[in-house]
Amino acid sequence: MTQEKPRRRSMVGWYDPRVLAHSGYLVAISNIFGRHSDTRLIEALASQPQNEFDYSAAQGDFWFDYAADIGDGWNPTFAVADALARPELTVEKDGAAEKTQSGRLLILGGDEVYPYPTRTEYETRTETPYRHAFAGRSRPDVFAIPGNHDWYDSLVAFSRTFCRPERGFAGCPTRQTRSYFAIRLPANWWLLAIDLQLGAELDEPQVQYFQNVARRMDDAARLIFCVPEPRWILEDAYPRHANYEELTSTRFLEEKVFHRKARLFLTGDLHFYKRHENAEGIQKITSGGGGAFLHPTHAPDTKHLRQGFTERAVYPDEKTSRGLCWRNFLFPFINPKSGWLYAFLYSMSAWLASASLERADIIDLPTALSAAMNAAIRDPLNGMWLVSIIAGFIFFTDTHVRSWRILGGAFHAVLHLAAAFLVGWGALQLTTKVFDLSYGSIAQLLTSGLVVFVLGAPVGAFILGVYLFVSIRIFGRHGNEAFSSLRIQDFKQWLRLRIDAAGRLTIYAIAIDRVPRRWRSEKRNGEPTFEADDRRASAPRLIDKVELRP
Ligand SMILES: [Fe+2]
Repeated sequence: MTQEKPRRRSMVGWYDPRVLAHSGYLVAISNIFGRHSDTRLIEALASQPQNEFDYSAAQGDFWFDYAADIGDGWNPTFAVADALARPELTVEKDGAAEKTQSGRLLILGGDEVYPYPTRTEYETRTETPYRHAFAGRSRPDVFAIPGNHDWYDSLVAFSRTFCRPERGFAGCPTRQTRSYFAIRLPANWWLLAIDLQLGAELDEPQVQYFQNVARRMDDAARLIFCVPEPRWILEDAYPRHANYEELTSTRFLEEKVFHRKARLFLTGDLHFYKRHENAEGIQKITSGGGGAFLHPTHAPDTKHLRQGFTERAVYPDEKTSRGLCWRNFLFPFINPKSGWLYAFLYSMSAWLASASLERADIIDLPTALSAAMNAAIRDPLNGMWLVSIIAGFIFFTDTHVRSWRILGGAFHAVLHLAAAFLVGWGALQLTTKVFDLSYGSIAQLLTSGLVVFVLGAPVGAFILGVYLFVSIRIFGRHGNEAFSSLRIQDFKQWLRLRIDAAGRLTIYAIAIDRVPRRWRSEKRNGEPTFEADDRRASAPRLIDKVELRP
């Protein structure tokens, strides 16, 4: 049933303390228990044997779509879904128009929901926008591979949403019963979608599945690999991080199972468009612009990757990406809920610092600072609090370089402690000199605590924004954190692919620079849907096109 008035969600607030706490909890649980119980094995035992899905007999041009990182705010998720679902879409690049058709298949390339996978989040953030987009239109067969965000509940909600053909997805048929699959396409193209759990190895039933598929291929078969993350970028950007070595899984399948090289790799995970190509014309495409916040394209530098792959196309361009970093100065306005955390941290720090200060200690700022530092050394509770704040900031500095983590984390913590001290000092001056309350009285302490709590929120959030700006703009670090903070819903993109009668595979990368912000309820063939009602929104346009010849 289509809901008349769906809940149109805003972009995930990654710095909302509740989202932070719950994400941290799920990541920890899935990393601990995910390694001890592999849902793919249980799924393989419980479900029917799965063969490849055969579309090779389709006549004429065969169109299919690929979108990844999709279920976030309504505006970008629905804008992409609606453009995908239009029966025909004409897109322009440099004045030349290209007519494209909606796909017979829709491949969802990973991270089908944010911030974590629950039944409700899949329904409101992913399925509802797609159901409204396909309302009154022809519906493709939907296939999905899980990304890290789908894995955070050990794939329970993902399996319910995509691996039950009797249920379907958003009114579209689904056929897979496992989290990996093979599709036989026309002209001897094969699409192989791999599930790597959370960066782990391949499981045995998955290897057997692909071995069986390989037996039914002939020597002329051409392979498209869909993988959950762009290891070709990650292994290069973080060379000392063992998890990102692009060796074991896909290379094992290519060389040992299929005995041939893939012509095309597709992935999402990083929320932008980048195409890399080598001298043999093999394409590696990162296309994660299906709905989630934008990632930076200017850092890290991915122009030349290992094994001779060179960057051929990028969206949005580096200049745009660099310019967007400035928005971190608006951090408190973009992430208002983040303030709760700083309100708490700042008032606790000020409370502990002021607890042991006498009236004589606060005659001026330098005296108060030296008294507060003395107190931190002499008072174990005060000292432990400061050490845990610094340790906490180092622990939560998520970067792959240890020196940056320690230096950056400690510097960031000291900035906040200094700010907390200054805010506390300001509150003291305000309450004793302006409000004329007696120092140390209950009224003065409570009023001063309230002032620190109220001011701590925007000041702390602003310092975090400045820290993220400096990290990404000057040092090229914290790409994820410094852009998830911006919650950018624009610069969305996906891929439309066509296999023509000559067996040529053409890839169209299509983008929407600015997604609509306002929508109008409509009916299409009697089914409720929405139409964009925003003159400032941009039409889908072609950003890249590449042909793979037989
Ligand atoms: Fe993602």
